[in-house]
Amino acid sequence: MELNGKRIVLGVTGGVAAYKAATLLRGLTGAGAKVQVVMTAAATRFVTPVTFQALSGQPVFVDMWDTRISDNMAHIALSRSADAILVAPATADFLAKTAHGQADDLLSTLVLARNCPLLVAPAMNRQMWENPATRRNVDLLARDGVICLGPDAGAQACGEEGDGRMREPEALLESLIGFFAPKFLTGKKLLLTAGPTFEAIDPVRGITNLSSGRMGYAVARAAAAAGAEVTLVSGPVALPTPPDVTRIDVRSALEMHAEVMRRVKGSDAGTDIFVAIAAVADYRAERISPQKLKKAAGGLPEIRFVENPDILAEVAALPNAPFCVGFAAESENLETYARQKRERKHIPLIVGNLIQEGFGGDENRVILFDDAGSHPLPVAGKAEIARQLIEHIAHLLEKK
Ligand code: PMT
Repeated sequence: MELNGKRIVLGVTGGVAAYKAATLLRGLTGAGAKVQVVMTAAATRFVTPVTFQALSGQPVFVDMWDTRISDNMAHIALSRSADAILVAPATADFLAKTAHGQADDLLSTLVLARNCPLLVAPAMNRQMWENPATRRNVDLLARDGVICLGPDAGAQACGEEGDGRMREPEALLESLIGFFAPKFLTGKKLLLTAGPTFEAIDPVRGITNLSSGRMGYAVARAAAAAGAEVTLVSGPVALPTPPDVTRIDVRSALEMHAEVMRRVKGSDAGTDIFVAIAAVADYRAERISPQKLKKAAGGLPEIRFVENPDILAEVAALPNAPFCVGFAAESENLETYARQKRERKHIPLIVGNLIQEGFGGDENRVILFDDAGSHPLPVAGKAEIARQLIEHIAHLLEKK
């Protein structure tokens, strides 16, 4: 699990978004973190400490004068035992106090006494966020090395619309995981394809496959967390864009091909790594009917297929090709077919998976094939597989 062994202080301040901190807490503990919740008195007006206590399995601290810490130094004890402090939601008042080093309750005092990184997820009305005083405070915090996650734009609890919504718990969790991830790929540009392609036959019909995009999106996320500048060319999927990833949506193999080639060729070329995870249709209809195909009287419709370009093989054949990684989805003879694909496409690394284990779902079992041989990884969540793949790519690049 990505946060195994990490000790996080989750600070909760008094805003409506405090209810989302409970979901965040579940995500943090689910990722393996040990979480100590500290609330402001105002936060307890929105959600009771009992909720956080039940979800964290730890007593929740609110009061400076809590006698449960024997030497009455709660602010020191709590901040010293943490790998990071994450305050979510962080109100305008909390940001102001922290920017100016004020310490008038347990949370603000332990934040001032910290010797670990501080991350804040602001949440407030859009006018409060845009107020010059808040802008100044956020600038001061950035200069002090405080990491500001969000806020997002959208509908607000007060009925207004704009910047100030707390970033969703899932995105905050991802940011924290990214924060702790080793930065194997700092300074590298990574381009990848993910998801299925959709090859139209007429305005409403087409040929596609069951790729959900999960494996590719997990690799995009892991690469961004490892410090790479990531561009994701995505077929049609129903997944949110991972943080710090530039996403380009395409539908067909030809569109995917054009978007990839534009980025690896030409004047702004500079891609260091290309990872092809998309399940690209090998064929497309030669002609897309402009009208919906009608049932032909007395016969079946005839569709002629033509071959799609092999994006990965084409990128790998470029004179200054990036480090290319392919995926092979097979229903049988995984080792033989994956090795053959690696050789045929002239790529240094291919990731083999069985279609019954790789397509859809949150888990996968893969074998990595490179010059050194085969490296089977144990069955794991796609996030973990992606993390190990990125680490393997970084090692191979280092050896080059
Ligand atoms: O999206 P998920 O539901 O999480 O599923 C993940 C996955 C099973 C789709 C993924 O792990 C995977 O195996 N992706 C590659 C699927 C595939 O189509 O493999 P292939 O054996 O047909 O192609 C070999 C390689 O060439 C792949 O890297 C593919 O992206 C690339 N290719 C193939 C055809 C083509 N025209 N252009 C390509 O770039």
